[in-house]
Amino acid sequence: MRLRILFLLLICMIVVGCEPAVAERSPEMAAVLDLAGDAANGEALFNKDSHGSALLPSCVLCHSLEEGTRLAGPSLAGVSGRAATTIEGESAEVYLYNSIIDPNTYIVDSFNGGVMSGQYADALTDQEIADLIAYLQTLK
Ligand code: HEC
Repeated sequence: MRLRILFLLLICMIVVGCEPAVAERSPEMAAVLDLAGDAANGEALFNKDSHGSALLPSCVLCHSLEEGTRLAGPSLAGVSGRAATTIEGESAEVYLYNSIIDPNTYIVDSFNGGVMSGQYADALTDQEIADLIAYLQTLK
């Protein structure tokens, strides 16, 4: 009997261990990703001077839209395509959401962490984040 329980436990551990790394949606993330984003408003937000604080400067200050133009951050030309494949098991929306809300959890190759603020979520509403994501998805 005890052996059977141990065996079942072992099977459970193996199954859990083999789960593919599908990123879980937190409730905060789901609240944003379930909204329909307005790409035109997202573009305006992307170019807006600052987001309520000098510590939260315009996205465009650090991100060029021209391919190969490196500012403090990577060019976002074509980001909609690569966002879907940058992290295995993570959809484009989830990747873009994390890139805005928590940019230092994944650092783009050859760039530095700690440059892009992790405080944008405090300044942007859920709808504004959804709008930014919708805009970034137009950057093919
Ligand atoms: C002070 C400079 C700076 C500002 C302002 C900034 N970023 Fe970034 N961003 C970076 C840097 C540096 C990286 C790369 C390092 C990393 O992954 O955190 C990055 C990474 C990203 C990525 C991932 C790009 C890729 O190729 O995978 C996205 C998307 C992004 N930022 C969007 C935004 C948006 C939207 C805003 C405005 C709300 C913004 N950033 C504001 C510096 C900045």
